[in-house]
Amino acid sequence: MSVGNEWAGPTAPPQAAHLSVRKIKKRFGGVEALRGIDFEVRRGEVMALVGDNGAGKSTLMKTIAGAIRADEGNFFLDGAEVDIATPHDATDLGIQIVYQDLALCENLDVSANLFLGHEPTRPGWNFLPRALRPLDDLAMEARAQDAVARLQVRTLQSIRSKVGGLSGGQRQAIAIARAVGAESTVVLLDEPTAALGVAQTKQVLDVVKRLRETNHAVVYISHNLRDIFEVSDRITVLRHGSNVAVYETADTNPDEIVVAMTRGFDGISDRVA
Ligand SMILES: Nc1ncnc2c1ncn2[C@@H]1O[C@H](COP(=O)(O)OP(=O)(O)OP(=O)(O)O)[C@@H](O)[C@H]1O
Ligand SMILES: [Mg+2]
Repeated sequence: MSVGNEWAGPTAPPQAAHLSVRKIKKRFGGVEALRGIDFEVRRGEVMALVGDNGAGKSTLMKTIAGAIRADEGNFFLDGAEVDIATPHDATDLGIQIVYQDLALCENLDVSANLFLGHEPTRPGWNFLPRALRPLDDLAMEARAQDAVARLQVRTLQSIRSKVGGLSGGQRQAIAIARAVGAESTVVLLDEPTAALGVAQTKQVLDVVKRLRETNHAVVYISHNLRDIFEVSDRITVLRHGSNVAVYETADTNPDEIVVAMTRGFDGISDRVA
């Protein structure tokens, strides 16, 4: 087992990490949701984030995505400190989050959903403000095809299908494809398979593997240890708002993870360094 908290200080994040966060704290009233968390993910890696209910997983994700402002702490991309105060900051840095409730538009087709808010516009209309330029349907369709093909979203009949008619697995895959279509390098997935059956879960796990192959840094939250062992390279365990351990998935097993997630309610950290 390696440990979660071994960095020297705020100016020396490890070289290999694409995204790293240091000493992130977040309090909600009397609840200390994050107690000085250190966390990192590399490119071409799926980092699973596990912990019992209320451990702080979603809160950590949301601070990285700029949806929640951390009370304290530092964010680094490729070793350089960055400021993440708003969702816009995170998007500009190539960080995308996919929530479980996907915020897709049921009445629009897959292609339109992929480009919500950043649709390509037709050339030659640049004299108009962006919002008034006609949409470039052909470019949009080509790029949607490309995103769906790149992630190999299976069983999708057509990018012209209305999202309202898709299965949960297909929707989740489309939401992920949308995040990836926006020039992202970090993809944060908060329980993408929680509501899905076996076949749909497999579809989403395949997309997550494709994200690793396309050199994204992927953070994957799930309560399903079987999925985690299938898809992750490393596993970070949170307990009561602290990072208590980081494992190489190949070097651990589900029993060890469960012990790390739940070890007593003693408030004693497992950290060695
Ligand atoms: N907006 C909020 N307002 C107040 N308390 C919050 C808020 N968001 C989270 N919390 C609290 O912070 C703690 C961590 O919550 P968080 O949602 O990050 O846990 P989690 O690890 O994602 O749990 P789960 O597995 O149940 O999704 C919990 O005690 C939760 O009640
Ligand atoms: Mg959560």
